[in-house]
Amino acid sequence: MPPASRGTRPSAGTAAETAPAPEDGSAPPAVAAHALTKTYGTGDSAVCALDEVSVAFARGAFTAIMGPSGSGKSTLMHCLSGLDAPTSGTVRLGGTDISRLDDRRLTLLRRDRVGFVFQAFNLLPMLTAEQNILLPARIAGRAPDRARFDRIVEVTGLADRLDHLPAKLSGGQQQRVAVARALLHAPEVVYADEPTGNLDSRSGAEILGFLADSVRELGQTVVMVTHDPVAASYADRVVFLRDGRLADELAAPTAEAVSAHLLKLEG
Ligand SMILES: Nc1ncnc2c1ncn2[C@@H]1O[C@H](COP(=O)(O)OP(=O)(O)OP(=O)(O)O)[C@@H](O)[C@H]1O
Ligand SMILES: [Mg+2]
Repeated sequence: MPPASRGTRPSAGTAAETAPAPEDGSAPPAVAAHALTKTYGTGDSAVCALDEVSVAFARGAFTAIMGPSGSGKSTLMHCLSGLDAPTSGTVRLGGTDISRLDDRRLTLLRRDRVGFVFQAFNLLPMLTAEQNILLPARIAGRAPDRARFDRIVEVTGLADRLDHLPAKLSGGQQQRVAVARALLHAPEVVYADEPTGNLDSRSGAEILGFLADSVRELGQTVVMVTHDPVAASYADRVVFLRDGRLADELAAPTAEAVSAHLLKLEG
């Protein structure tokens, strides 16, 4: 399979929103947050979910975000992906400062430049597996890349399930459809929030294997929120949040090392 095409997709941003490449010659990250702060509510009831978080996610890498419940993992993912607007700070996707985009442009950016996998699969029940996979392309008016579709269907083992409605698929198969849907348009980043949270360990391992393969074989960039040290061990790097701040990070994680870090954070 050819590597995912990079740098040819249309940008949702204008020249004024486009950042120059880093001057030190290093490859620019797929997505980066700078001093990202998110406060919910006001006054005494205000909750600071993210407190000046600066973090970058390398292109073609699989990164896990971990941390105790309420530490800001989902909030960070939502701000990185344009699902939610930060209170202050910036998020750059490629060269685009997405914190400066209006709602219409953010909608286009989410549709064209990122992919999502959620814990709850989020498939449309009246559409077949194939129709679900192709739906974002149809909505965008894009002709799907048939060769890429065939390859993704083959890799995710969905070839004999394409005509099935989600209700006729197991949880693991439904999540495979969701992963195929997220990968089809070769997004700049796939965001996954607890993608194995509703799956048994075998189906979960399959999904994690597909995500990891998409990184190795397609050059996909994946950012995944998880509570599970085994899931995190599929990633190239783990970043840990605590109380809305970046607390630590770990390269080439093993499940044991991740568990030890989490114990330290929660202790
Ligand atoms: N819409 C909201 N309104 C008010 N507070 C919120 C909202 N969303 C999140 N929070 C608060 O922000 C903080 C971070 O929440 P977030 O959902 O990002 O945590 P998390 O790390 O994803 O937790 P979990 O592991 O339980 O999913 C928490 O204190 C949470 O209560
Ligand atoms: Mg969460």
